[in-house]
Amino acid sequence: MTSFITRLWCSFYLIITLFKFTICWREQVPTPPLPVLPLPTYSQLKWQQRELIMFLHFGVNTFTDREWGTGHENPAIFNPSGLNTNQWATVAAEAGVSLMILTAKHHDGFCLWPSKYTEHSVISSPWRNGKGDVVEEFVNAAKAHGIDVGLYLSPWDRHDHRYGHDLPYNEYYLAQLQELLNKYGSVREIWFDGAKGPNAPNMSYYFSDWFAMVNELQSSINIFSDAGPNVRWVGNEKGFAGEPCWSLINRTSLAIGSSNITKYLSTGDPRGTDWLPAECDVSIRKGWFWHKSESPRKLSELLDIYYNSVGRNCVLLLNVPPNTAGLISEDDAQSLREFRAAINTVFDQNLAQDCNFRVSSQRGGEGGGFGPEKMLDSDHLWSFWAPGDEDKEKNHWIEIGGKDGGLRFNVIRIQEAIGLGQRIKRHEIYVNGKLMIKGTTVGYKRLYRLEGGLVHGHVVRIRITSSRGLPLISSVGLHFDPFWHSEFTLN
Ligand SMILES: *[C@@H]1O[C@H](CO)[C@@H](O)[C@H](O)[C@H]1NC(C)=O
Ligand SMILES: *[C@@H]1O[C@H](CO)[C@@H](O)[C@H](O)[C@H]1NC(C)=O
Ligand SMILES: *[C@@H]1O[C@H](CO)[C@@H](O)[C@H](O)[C@H]1NC(C)=O
Repeated sequence: MTSFITRLWCSFYLIITLFKFTICWREQVPTPPLPVLPLPTYSQLKWQQRELIMFLHFGVNTFTDREWGTGHENPAIFNPSGLNTNQWATVAAEAGVSLMILTAKHHDGFCLWPSKYTEHSVISSPWRNGKGDVVEEFVNAAKAHGIDVGLYLSPWDRHDHRYGHDLPYNEYYLAQLQELLNKYGSVREIWFDGAKGPNAPNMSYYFSDWFAMVNELQSSINIFSDAGPNVRWVGNEKGFAGEPCWSLINRTSLAIGSSNITKYLSTGDPRGTDWLPAECDVSIRKGWFWHKSESPRKLSELLDIYYNSVGRNCVLLLNVPPNTAGLISEDDAQSLREFRAAINTVFDQNLAQDCNFRVSSQRGGEGGGFGPEKMLDSDHLWSFWAPGDEDKEKNHWIEIGGKDGGLRFNVIRIQEAIGLGQRIKRHEIYVNGKLMIKGTTVGYKRLYRLEGGLVHGHVVRIRITSSRGLPLISSVGLHFDPFWHSEFTLN
């Protein structure tokens, strides 16, 4: 009897202990590491994931064959014969674009919407008998295709007589900004530049007032300018980011329209205290406005731009100008379709998917939730490989081993979990033990096309040799790009 009670007691004790152990074990699920500041905002993260956005330069210059209008254009020349913003949105959607930015007003001062503060607009044109509104049609078409909108309102205005007089002009500009940001629903990006007329070099733009008004009227907008505050210019109009390219920078070192900062803008700053990622603006043609004499860039050029912008931690803002009919020309549309098809061909298949992965260490050990498999899922922000906290030797590595017979690739992709800060300063990539790449920053996305072309490798090793805190990698890929010259073979 006693022994029965003892046994009962023992079993009971065992169950309790096991239960406690289970509870304790469950409590010890490894947490994500602390972030390394600064961090992106929610809107900046959304913007970064867009990768490719579209600019549309359209206005009186489309009809005068100019890049910069004089401001003396007769509004009667604005008369697109078949303006169809649904065609713009269809072309954009097919190109995988999720945000389109329209020039509501360029330097010539002509407004594409019926502003109540000037006659120099669609009101005075024959188009839709002066009752049209390009901005409204643009916004409606974009919305119908699930595309977000952005606007550009040129500070430099070569038409309005208030230009050059600080107070009245800033009031005029701000009034128009209110029209645009109040009337057309949600605007996701507003684009400012610092261009000024040679007739008024001392003209002040009241950027602080403008930015405050933007943030008052729109909650999820990103403000773009040379100096942010949310998205910065990359420092050139070639579509190429710097090397390195940090999303970090010191805003206190920036000024809108200043010429000494283009290098700083292109590289960012590893010690920067502000999260201010770079946008690479470039046109699909030579000019920003449509000109009969120009044609779209070749696919190889567009891919060079893609690898050097999106592939260097930036967003590509590609300009595709509507023509005098008010349509995106078929040759531009065709060029965009080829571009998107090429990107999909290269990146839809990740050859690393079936490989064996080894890593230097992993946070929380095996099954801790930060293993190498996290680099192969579709979440490129919050699911990531993290080395163990104890692994402070700066010897972090990932090894990708090809199963039976090896790998055939010419593109390497690495992505950092930027939601916890941009960290990687330097890294190296080895194929079969041979150093192929000595790189700097990674950021949201880093792409390498291997010089020399196609590689037959068995083992790819990525070493992170310097970082701000522990490196966190959300995705890696090995890809094959058939558009990249591929003569050379490494065995
Ligand atoms: C601009 O300011 C500079 C220095 O303050 C002055 O010398 C110049 O005359 C001004 N230019 C104009 C066009 O007002
Ligand atoms: C550019 O020049 C301005 C003033 O001349 C200065 O305040 C700023 O720090 C400079 N920026 C850089 C990156 O050199
Ligand atoms: C940016 O700011 C940080 C912190 O104040 C500073 O350490 C760094 O040197 C600055 N960068 C430049 C280029 O001045």
